[in-house]
Amino acid sequence: MSGPDLRRAAAARALDLVRPGMRLGLGTGSTAAAFVALLGERVRDGLDIVGVPTSEATRIQAEGLGIRLSTLDALPELDLTIDGADEVDERLRLIKGGGAALLREKIVACASRHMVVIADAAKRVDTLGAFPLPIEVNHFGLAATQRAVEAAIARSGAAGPVALRRGADGAAVTTDGGHVILDARLGAIPDPEALGAALWAVPGVVEHGLFLGIASAAILAAEVDGEAEVT
Ligand code: A5P
Repeated sequence: MSGPDLRRAAAARALDLVRPGMRLGLGTGSTAAAFVALLGERVRDGLDIVGVPTSEATRIQAEGLGIRLSTLDALPELDLTIDGADEVDERLRLIKGGGAALLREKIVACASRHMVVIADAAKRVDTLGAFPLPIEVNHFGLAATQRAVEAAIARSGAAGPVALRRGADGAAVTTDGGHVILDARLGAIPDPEALGAALWAVPGVVEHGLFLGIASAAILAAEVDGEAEVT
């Protein structure tokens, strides 16, 4: 059983949560894309929902599937957001942003009554931080912001190098919002709340990938005896 099979199994279970008339936040990444693909099949069969995408990539996918889309300006509250994660701990604290969509993902999740994470169970961790923490920053004053981010990380009790995210062409990755990403390779984050607060205090930080107190449930798929077990 492959990773895509597990991601699809988690996405299929999340589809059970969708009811006609719902206003849905549509996440970003390969697991969220599996959910959007399944949702598109239901829409083709007549399900009436409206979605708010968390990235241009998801917007393009959803539009191609005929899913009706709206914005948070038109829909101030959403019923449910379904999104992937890079890490999830037992308290449903997350690292997100591996796909550089963390800003819109957090805005949409926080505008939703419920956010449900869908993921391969391999994303479950005891301690957040093995996955590099994405920090979205304004390009202006980048070097100064990076130094301040490094100091904030140290103050929170974490440690590790911080680097500008670059694409395969060597250029800085630019987010949908026109910002850049600093990835902090911390190994472990002993106090995610302290780190989140410290990062928020840095001018130039637009958003960080710690989603704390936002997710209400996680649907995780693992391979058990050759089958996908979803919990
Ligand atoms: C996008 O910015 C991320 O937050 C994704 O949700 C995360 O990287 C999970 O992606 P996969 O589902 O592809 O693992």
